[in-house]
Amino acid sequence: MLYESNDLKSVPILKVTGLTKRYGQLTVLDQVDFELSKGEVVAIIGPSGSGKSTLIKSLNLLVKPDAGTYEIEGTSLTIQKITKAFQKSLVEKTGMVFQNFGLFSHLTVLKNLTLPLVKAKGLSEKEADHRAKNVLQQVGLEDKLASFPHQLSGGQQQRVGIARALALEPEVLLLDEPTSALDPERVGEVLEVIKALSRQGFTMVVVTHEMQFAKKVADRIVFMDEGKIITQGAPETIFSNHAPERVKQFLNRFNLYTI
Ligand SMILES: Nc1ncnc2c1ncn2[C@@H]1O[C@H](COP(=O)(O)OP(=O)(O)OP(=O)(O)O)[C@@H](O)[C@H]1O
Ligand SMILES: [Mg+2]
Repeated sequence: MLYESNDLKSVPILKVTGLTKRYGQLTVLDQVDFELSKGEVVAIIGPSGSGKSTLIKSLNLLVKPDAGTYEIEGTSLTIQKITKAFQKSLVEKTGMVFQNFGLFSHLTVLKNLTLPLVKAKGLSEKEADHRAKNVLQQVGLEDKLASFPHQLSGGQQQRVGIARALALEPEVLLLDEPTSALDPERVGEVLEVIKALSRQGFTMVVVTHEMQFAKKVADRIVFMDEGKIITQGAPETIFSNHAPERVKQFLNRFNLYTI
């Protein structure tokens, strides 16, 4: 059966409720509820220290919250009851892209991609090579297979980071400030790759300070402050005069209407 894209967007992939994370006395996530549907692109924005990275890393248990419930594929478990199998399917569903690329510096671009495929996914070298080359082509780096990360620009390294996540064939890409470590002239090439993925209907959550990008690409914007989701909605609602005062104050710092 063929689905209309609107139908696809209503199928939840992952749902978390009551996520709470504390570091000592500090509550970094405070009862956060978050749901992600197939084909959705969600941008998480908000001030520094508001809990954006903690939230996105909690979604695949890279950070383990103190409390909360996870739901995937109709199974719902509290953090205390999560099994190894549940955690494994959560990790397999999600690919993570980090601010600082997270590449292995002693491995070539190709090996950075094939190693996890062979070691974690059990692919043969030949299958891994084939898949790696395909995704590297997708991010425009098929001519850099034999390069080492230090021989690439930051933008190219981040595109390798995205390709590596894609090679594992996740259902969702989680990107934590994928462009904030880049020189301004390199930001665009990485945002273009993310835009292309969104056009293909890829499900993504991206923490970003690139407001123009969020406005253009996201289906939904989530605004966080002090460990809470203050508001969320379509870009035209969030980037409007009707947004809550805290959101408007935050957005006023960005020069949103000049381009
Ligand atoms: N491992 C940790 N140990 C102690 N405190 C932490 C740890 N990780 C994060 N925090 C604190 O939790 C709060 C939220 O951090 P988080 O990294 O989620 O913020 P953020 O919204 O991603 O900020 P930024 O925009 O600067 O990346 C901050 O006050 C931070 O100092
Ligand atoms: Mg962060």
